Amino acid sequence: MTHPSTIADRPATELGGRRSVLVRQIADHTRLDQLLHELDGTTGDAQRAVLRRVDRLVFSHAFAEEVVLWPVLRRVLPDGAELTTQVEREHQEVNDLIAELERTPDDDPRRTALLDRLVTVLREDVRDEEDELFPRLRERLDDRALRRLGWAWAVVARVSPTRPHPTVARRPPGNALSGLPLSVLDRGRDHLDARAGLPGARAASALLARLAGLVERTPAARHGDTPATHR
Ligand SMILES: [Fe+2]
Repeated sequence: MTHPSTIADRPATELGGRRSVLVRQIADHTRLDQLLHELDGTTGDAQRAVLRRVDRLVFSHAFAEEVVLWPVLRRVLPDGAELTTQVEREHQEVNDLIAELERTPDDDPRRTALLDRLVTVLREDVRDEEDELFPRLRERLDDRALRRLGWAWAVVARVSPTRPHPTVARRPPGNALSGLPLSVLDRGRDHLDARAGLPGARAASALLARLAGLVERTPAARHGDTPATHR
């Protein structure tokens, strides 16, 4: 069986147009690549600021993939389950690495290895999607279906969590059920952390973090989890 070629260098007209899920994906992946270049060589507060922008992009992006796109891939491709398990493993590792980085102080020598691994996994995830999964999806879906999926994925990404939640299921229904409460808590923290100088902002953000930890551990949030990504 011959594999269809990567979507990375194909024009938008071959991928369903600018509203297609494939074109929207490439735009986010390009943005991620820019952020990873910005991250290179940073330390301390500057590094944390870039990492927060990486988090805001990748967690909502990946969460919406897991809720909207991977179930479609599993339905339309005979080997969809294997293909999506591979990218779910990568998403799980990104969750674990960012959570670990948040616990690791600036002067800890392990930070460099954690960051290097994070950049490697994020780049591998993009390659798996653009070179393996999305070319196969393009073969199976017509332009209209790709645009419909693009709309659904973008809407879900806008209301998805923006921070790591390693114990949540990477598959429905757990991720779909916990997505909205975690999104509200994460975005509340984003808002508070941007105003960290205001009285009470740090304490309120810490409280929201504890609440998110409780949501993450509810049976509903873990429902649908598979051994490949279980924590
Ligand atoms: Fe993606």
